[in-house]
Amino acid sequence: MPQDDQPPGSPTIRTIAMPADTNPAGDIFGGWLMSQMDLAAGSVAALTARGRSATIAVEGMKFHRPVKVGDEVSLYARIVRIGRSSMQIHVEAWRRQRESDDSQRVTEATFTFVALDEYGAARPVEQP
Ligand SMILES: CC(C)(COP(=O)(O)OP(=O)(O)OC[C@H]1O[C@@H](n2cnc3c(N)ncnc32)[C@H](O)[C@@H]1OP(=O)(O)O)[C@@H](O)C(=O)NCCC(=O)NCCS
Repeated sequence: MPQDDQPPGSPTIRTIAMPADTNPAGDIFGGWLMSQMDLAAGSVAALTARGRSATIAVEGMKFHRPVKVGDEVSLYARIVRIGRSSMQIHVEAWRRQRESDDSQRVTEATFTFVALDEYGAARPVEQP
C-alpha cells in the first residue's frame, strides 16, 4: 500500500496539472504524468552524469490514483544505482489539492538513464 502521509524529502520538480493535460474522461492524462517523471529523473541524471544523458528504460510504472485538474504535482527523484554508464532513478509523483494540506502518492517508476558523449554514445559516469 502506498504511504500517503509523507512525501519523500524535497521535490525535484513541482508543477500544476492544467485542463490541457486531461484525457477524454477529464482526469489528467497518464502520458503527461510520465513526461513530468521523465523530466525529474532527467534533471537528477544530468547532475549525476555532469552532462548529457538519455532515458533507456522505464520499469515498474504504477498509477496508484488519478490526478485532477488544478492539483499541485510534486516529483521526487532519487538515484538508487549507478552502473558504468547507467543511472537508475526512482521517481514518485505526489498530488496535493490546491486548497488542502494533504498529499497523496499517485505514481511511481524506476527510470534508467545512460550518460552520453558528444557523439550520442554511452560514456562512463564518475562514481560518487
Ligand atoms: C542510450 C544508448 C546510446 C545506449 O547505447 P547502447 O549501445 O544500448 O549502450 P550499452 O549496451 O553499452 O548500454 C548502456 C547501459 O545501459 C544499460 N541498459 C541497456 N539496456 C537496458 C535496459 N533495457 N534496461 C536497463 N538498463 C539497460 C546497460 O546495462 C549499460 O549499463 P552500464 O554501462 O551501467 O553497465 C542507445 O540505446 C540510445 O541512443 N537509445 C535511445 C535513447 C533515447 O533516445 N531516449 C529517449 C527516448 S524518447
